[in-house]
Amino acid sequence: MARGEFNSRIGTFATVAGSVVGLGNLWRFPYLAGENGGSAFLLVYLCVSLLVSLPVMLSELSIGRSQRCNAMRAFKNIAPGPWFLVGFLGVAAAYVITSFYMVVGGWSLEFLRASVVGEFSGKSSDEIKNYFDLFLAGGTGPTLQALVSLGISLVVVVLGVSKGIERFNKILMPALFVLILILVCNSLFCLPESWKGVAFLLKPDFEKISLQTVLTAMGQSFFSLSLGMGAMLTYGSYISSDRNLPKTALGIVTFDSLVAILSGMVIFPAVFSFGLEPTQGPTLLFNTMPNIFQQMPGGYGFSILFFLLVYFAAVTSQVSLLETVAAFASEELRMKRWKACLAVALTMSVTGSMCALSLSGHGWFEIGGKPLFDIFDSVSSNVMLPLGGFFIVLFAGWIMPSRVLQSQLTNSENESPSINYVVLRFLIRFVSPIFVALLFLTLIGVI
Ligand code: TRP
Repeated sequence: MARGEFNSRIGTFATVAGSVVGLGNLWRFPYLAGENGGSAFLLVYLCVSLLVSLPVMLSELSIGRSQRCNAMRAFKNIAPGPWFLVGFLGVAAAYVITSFYMVVGGWSLEFLRASVVGEFSGKSSDEIKNYFDLFLAGGTGPTLQALVSLGISLVVVVLGVSKGIERFNKILMPALFVLILILVCNSLFCLPESWKGVAFLLKPDFEKISLQTVLTAMGQSFFSLSLGMGAMLTYGSYISSDRNLPKTALGIVTFDSLVAILSGMVIFPAVFSFGLEPTQGPTLLFNTMPNIFQQMPGGYGFSILFFLLVYFAAVTSQVSLLETVAAFASEELRMKRWKACLAVALTMSVTGSMCALSLSGHGWFEIGGKPLFDIFDSVSSNVMLPLGGFFIVLFAGWIMPSRVLQSQLTNSENESPSINYVVLRFLIRFVSPIFVALLFLTLIGVI
């Protein structure tokens, strides 16, 4: 079966960045940072990203590019035995993530609609909060929007790898980045007491760091970088063989963290300036932004643009999630590509609707009093992705022939290994897996 390949260096970067930059940066990072002490969270987040996540990303890209097939098949090709289950775990994680991700994508569609009709104009921050609460409680609205959000990404995936996704990302990523920069300037220079928000995010406070912070930061890092589930592995399989993987990966990690931090610099000054709660959880982004646009000159237009781009950021990621599950279905179950996409999207629309309805406050789809949405959100990032990442680095470091790893990381097989390669291999073989294992063992009380 012919596989697509990314056409250019910019195209590769933009596409991988398009998968990586998404609601994880704009919505999830600020809300977790708000709940976990701001700067303390950021600091742990950055360390974990470099020492634990970067090696996982290199492992995924290397495995994927050396095998050029879906995650499960890649594991089977390299080693017999149960390793293919890692690929399976990844497909399951992609499935769980899409189910709540499409709901948040739907929220941005709703806020886009509300911005266009000027729903928020003249409303106080309490009234804005009320609007969102009522929307969630309604049930039907969030469900329909989530389904629309999924449907749009389905169309992109069916159009094919290079044509559909790559073209999309090359335009939208830069636009999103520029808009965020404008919003950062507005938050920093035009809001009263903006320094409180900046201090919250940047002034280190080591006392706030707990084991739970470390786990949450690691989960967020995996989530934000699309790791631990074979998505990067699938993308790696489309990267042409003359690209430099370590450079690509480092660029992606840097860009991704930058977008997350900038997003925090938009939101936290506003949170303090409008007297909102930084610890309110998943609703943080959506309750904060409309207040900003009310105060901003040209806020009406910026609001539309912002929610449009948030939605696009969500779509590019959703496309990648769907792609991961669909590539698996079409190559393993030998389904036609469009049929596989459709079947996958249909099942996702059921679980996605359940997630949307679980937040209505009516007690639907709650387990032990917790909405399915929250359970999917935390279980996928805090358990499934780190677990997947753990097995992926183990696989790349210890199971995959080291000549394959070396040739992927250095683009050459015979030279005596460079110092960069030696360091990277050390991170892959020891630092990353030991860190994840220790954290898990400590959390479940074994250590
Ligand atoms: N990284 C995406 C974000 O920040 C979310 C995500 C997690 C993802 N895993 C993925 C996207 C796999 C695409 C593929 O929003």
